[in-house]
Amino acid sequence: MSDADPVRAGSGANPTAGGGTVIALVPAAGRGVRLGSDGPKAFVPVAGVAMLRLAVAGLVDSGCVDGVVVIVPRGYEDRARKLLAPLDAGALRAGVRVVAGGAERSDSVRAGLAAAPEADLVLVHDAARALTPPELVAGVVDELRRGAPAVVPGVPVSDTIKPVAAVDGRRVVTGALDRSALRAVQTPQGFRADLLRRAHSRGDDATDDAALVEHLGVSVTVVDGSERAFKITGPLDLTLAESIAAAEPAVHGAGGGTDMVRVGIGTDVHPVEKGRPCWVAGLHFPDDDGCAGHSDGDVAAHALCDALLSAAGLGDLGMVFGTDRPEWSGAGGATLLTEVRRLLLESGYVVGNAAVQVVGNRPRLGPRRAEAQEVLSGVLGAPVSVSATTTDGLGFAGRGEGLAATATALVAAAP
Ligand code: CTP
Ligand code: MG
Repeated sequence: MSDADPVRAGSGANPTAGGGTVIALVPAAGRGVRLGSDGPKAFVPVAGVAMLRLAVAGLVDSGCVDGVVVIVPRGYEDRARKLLAPLDAGALRAGVRVVAGGAERSDSVRAGLAAAPEADLVLVHDAARALTPPELVAGVVDELRRGAPAVVPGVPVSDTIKPVAAVDGRRVVTGALDRSALRAVQTPQGFRADLLRRAHSRGDDATDDAALVEHLGVSVTVVDGSERAFKITGPLDLTLAESIAAAEPAVHGAGGGTDMVRVGIGTDVHPVEKGRPCWVAGLHFPDDDGCAGHSDGDVAAHALCDALLSAAGLGDLGMVFGTDRPEWSGAGGATLLTEVRRLLLESGYVVGNAAVQVVGNRPRLGPRRAEAQEVLSGVLGAPVSVSATTTDGLGFAGRGEGLAATATALVAAAP
């Protein structure tokens, strides 16, 4: 938008110009009534990937935000954390936080603000604008850093917009608006954090944060928006988003097109511990010593979990079942695989097939290979091949000090 544009307003002084911590708040606590989705709209997949994840990926890819606070309906916090774990793997200095939202959008924004005490600059970005280009995010942050106290992206309107009112039981046009002076306003909207906090402190409700800041008498700068930043509101919007994301899997990368397959790899190694029950590939071997570890030490199941998570871009075992999650300590390999399969489904993936090779002298897998394949295939709902090898006496596996396993997996976007 040029400086001569009638909508562009002047900017005030900004004490954090040029620097400061940028935290993006992502309201995702809406129900999606107009979309008619089963659950909250932010978890609805677009070409196999949840809207929430696409929206956060756009923020991360901009390289302009230090942290993200996602606001989801109460009870969906864990689901959101799992969905976003791969995006939280070191890309952001301040990481991804997930908090519960409120009844109205502005309640959700307030919950987000409360979870971002360190923010100097705040972006508010609807999860429903899932395909927003990273360049638009960067453009808004640039304008803030150049001193604007409040920034919104806007696009020219293509329809003629008329104010209407009910008069004598009829709806009638009450005036004329100059279309060239109108902009449809999108997100991310950017604000000096102190201003947005003040604007929201009165508890007013608004679907547009900039409107609250305008009430404080602050001038709001408009930068060029993007037609890709449209809000997915009704079923037609979802159809459009699906076709864009499916045509550009590399851009909206976390998932890819509906016919996309992805490969993954996983490795696991555990020390053998005398007297420990031996579980390998979902089977119990009563005559052998098993492996030490956070769970049942089933290296084959763990390698398979990693391969599946890797194929779906969902991180790895440590991120999903880390030692800070006591509920998974001692969990059996089959239990972990069942949970991984559920996570994949939630992210829009089904398992194509998987293969795992165990490296070690004992237990002897050969005689029970078919049994192991049956158990693991049953858990994953897809063919799993199990093989084993020794190392001719070499290394820790050769000396019987530990067991290793390597796995590969193929997953496909769910139909
Ligand atoms: N939102 C929110 N908390 C609410 C209501 C909405 O965080 N109490 C979020 C939505 O999740 C969405 C954004 O605000 O990302 C814009 O809202 P909208 O598109 O209206 O989404 P929904 O409220 O989910 O949809 P609907 O109004 O059709 O129910
Ligand atoms: Mg709504």
